[in-house]
Formats: sequence, structure tokens, C-alpha cells
Amino acid sequence: MKALVLSGGKGTRLRPLTFTTAKQLIPVANKPILGYVLDHVSQAGITDVGVVIASGTGHDVNNYVTDGSAWNIRVTYILQEPLGLAHAVKTAESFLGEDDFIMCLGDNLIGKGVNTLIERFENEDLDALILLKEVEDPTRFGVAVLDSKDNIIKLVEKPRTPPSNLALVGVYVFSNKIHQAVSRIKPSWRGELEITDAIQEMVNQGYKVKAEKLNTWWLDTGKKDDILFANAKILDEYVKQEIKGKITESKIEGRVTIPETAKIIKSTIRGPSIIGESCVIQNSFIGPYTSIGNQTQIIKSSIEYCVVLENALIRGVERLKESLIGRNAKILRNRKRKTLKLNIGDYSEVEI
Ligand code: TTP
Repeated sequence: MKALVLSGGKGTRLRPLTFTTAKQLIPVANKPILGYVLDHVSQAGITDVGVVIASGTGHDVNNYVTDGSAWNIRVTYILQEPLGLAHAVKTAESFLGEDDFIMCLGDNLIGKGVNTLIERFENEDLDALILLKEVEDPTRFGVAVLDSKDNIIKLVEKPRTPPSNLALVGVYVFSNKIHQAVSRIKPSWRGELEITDAIQEMVNQGYKVKAEKLNTWWLDTGKKDDILFANAKILDEYVKQEIKGKITESKIEGRVTIPETAKIIKSTIRGPSIIGESCVIQNSFIGPYTSIGNQTQIIKSSIEYCVVLENALIRGVERLKESLIGRNAKILRNRKRKTLKLNIGDYSEVEI
């Protein structure tokens, strides 16, 4: 069994952050989303992993994952023009060869590992096993219709009138039969080779295509609010109370991680929250559900339910909430000045 982790794509919905970084590298609880996906792959005992990358952001993905040794995996990078998930499979065909493989989206998080999924695929000798989750608004997703024995009989991409509420989660296990299915499909109206079309083709050809329903949470981190929600969820589940750092006249409440190199001065940090390496937090309130990236400084500010990336500076901001702040960004309040002065990148969003 190999793994194919999709870490290419365009990431248009997460601009401007995705102009300078891959969306799979945006951290939740101070760890890139892709890191959690590779944890699951590695925990399933898979060592041969193809990582699909795009030309603009592939370099950063490569810098983070390197040869995969941090996860005890061996990584092959596969450069792809982002033309759909089935196109990624096609591009990876020579890496995958005749092997079975699990395909995971590098920007999706699920609340449990993939071991049992792989075991079921192997025990039942399937050609495809697709992870599904019941959702409230199926119109936003690829949706599957099942028979009473969990066989997939039909798939529809973002249906206007959904035939079921079972969405495709972005974790799939395939036999090598997927390759001929991919070779038979045509690009959709949006010009992409859709994985739902390829799976439908497998169904049409009579292969054994089954569904597994996910009984934990699933987070697709495609947009800003998804990232904030994923951050809160991961902090809730994983953050430990680990207070090192230099703490002066401050209050630390609940589960908070503060590393040795951080300085907290005359501030309150409320968990679940995480503070990065070499951060300085002064006369401020942080948390709950907040992750502060390395080397960031927060002075005389109050921040809640936020993800702040590396080396940002936030000063004099009375109440910052539900915000995603990029690397090296500065938010400074000058109380004497009545006008706003902004220097923001393309596709930025500021709510005042
Ligand atoms: P999407 O979120 O569906 O697409 P996208 O990354 O282009 O984002 P946006 O819609 O905001 O423009 O992709 C799901 C995952 O699959 C994501 O991790 C990127 C990856 N992907 C590829 O590796 N190759 C592709 O051709 C596509 C479409 C996505």
C-alpha cells in the first residue's frame, strides 16, 4: 500500500495567504495541516508516499516535508498542474504503478487515523473504499448515494438537489483499477478531471466500490473560517498545559503551551491556546482558541479565537477576534490618529 497526498492546487479561497505559502502549510495549533495528514499516513504503517505539489508553492512543501524522515516515510515529489484530483492521480501514475494506495487531501483533517479504513479495503478485497461524512449542506461537496450494503451506486459533484447528505471527505483507498477509470473520463465544466467522475466510472464498470462513514469530525480547511475552526478543534483536543518561558506578573489560565523561549509580561493567557517560540506578549490578553506563531509580538492588545502566523506584530489593538493574520504582518493602532492607514496585499480582507 502506497499513499498519495495532494498538496498542490490553487488555494484561491485562501488568498492572500496562498500567494506566498501553500495552504496545506497554514498552521493550526502551530503545526502545518499537512503535518497532521502525514501523521495519519505514517501511523498506518505506510512508508512509500507520493506528495503532489504545484509549481508556485511546491518549494515550500518540499522545505517542510524534506525526505519525510520526520514521519519515518520516504517521499517522492510529483509536480502537477492543478487540473483536478483525478488529474493528480494520472500525474502520479508512474509513482503508483500497480499498487493499491490511499489518497488524502493535504488540507483536510479528520478526527481519527486511517488504519481501520485500509484494513477494511484489504479484508474485503475492494477496488475503492471512500470515506463519507453526513453533512448539513451537501450542495457544497461531492455527494454519494449508497445501497443497503454500503456499495456506492452514484456520485454527484456539488448537487443543486442533493440525492443524499453523505459528502466525500477527501480520503480514498484505491486499487490500480482507478487508472483505467481516470483514462476514460473527460474534464468537467470547470475544466478539471474530477475524482467523483473517475469513481463513478469504476461503479459503471462493475468494480467493488464501497463507502465507509466517518464517525468523528472532519474539517476541510479551504477558507479562513475553516482554518479558525480547525485551530479551535485541534487546540481543544491536543493542546497540553506546558508552561515554560519567562512569565512575569501574568496569569495563565487553562491549557496553554508556552515554550522556553517565549516571554509573557503583565498579560493573561487563557487556554486552550498555544504561543510560539521567541514570542513576546506584553500587557495583553490572549485566548481562548488562539495560536500565536513563532517570533510574534503582541503588545497592549486583546486577541481571541485567532490564528497569527510567524513574526507578526500587533500593538494597541483593543479587541481582535476571529482573524487569520499572515507572516510578518503588522497591525498597529495609533490612538491619536482618527483616520485609517492601510498597506494591505491583493485579495486581503479588512472588517472595521
Ligand atoms: P481544492 O481545495 O478542491 O482546490 P484548490 O486547492 O485549488 O483550492 P481553491 O478551490 O481555493 O482554489 O483541493 C483539495 C486539495 O487537493 C488541496 O490540498 C489541493 C489539492 N489539489 C491538488 O493537489 N491538485 C489539484 O489539481 C487540485 C484541484 C487540488
